[in-house]
Amino acid sequence: MFKVHLRRTIELKAPFEVCVEINNDWTHFTYLHRKSIVRFQLIHKSGNREIFLCRGRHFFPLPIYNDYVLVREYKPSQYGYSNVYIDVGSGHVHYLDARAVPKKDATLLISDYLFSLPSCWRWFPKLFFWIFQKRMAPLMKEDNELIRERLGMEDLIHNDTCAPVVPSAYDIFDDLFKEDIFQTADARFEFSVSKTFGNKSEVRHDEEKILA
Ligand SMILES: [Fe+2]
Repeated sequence: MFKVHLRRTIELKAPFEVCVEINNDWTHFTYLHRKSIVRFQLIHKSGNREIFLCRGRHFFPLPIYNDYVLVREYKPSQYGYSNVYIDVGSGHVHYLDARAVPKKDATLLISDYLFSLPSCWRWFPKLFFWIFQKRMAPLMKEDNELIRERLGMEDLIHNDTCAPVVPSAYDIFDDLFKEDIFQTADARFEFSVSKTFGNKSEVRHDEEKILA
């Protein structure tokens, strides 16, 4: 295991509220950053914590992805959040701590990443840094376009009808099981197996039937 800490600081000459809103908003990921973030699905939300299933693409248009379970906690004191990324394939865990700092005529967005990498990366740490920058560049450019767009439509920022619907609390288990999900199937099958152990004259009884 080889751990890399990267700190990215972005200074934006834009209002603090707009920068913080866009920095904390995940609802724009799969349309604005769709080339990089293929999936960002809310699984659970309670208080300041959210859990997502997400899929990131390494380099557009190559079909190479990483899947993560992402746990996020919003931290109002730093106008940001902390993320824990569990790589579903490797089990490696990465971290991100994001905060915003108001300056006189600008906003500082500070992101601290801690990546847990395979040991072979200890021979090429600068290559990892280069890849990280290449991957993040289009996302930063897209966010800048979003900020520019928001500044041009100031009076719409607080228009609720423009905001995507995000529930204040969410649990995928409750959501999926609120109705009889088995009745929603398009095809149904049933089979049963009866098996007796410790008896030489074993009885085998399999039954299968197509219900619909
Ligand atoms: Fe963004």
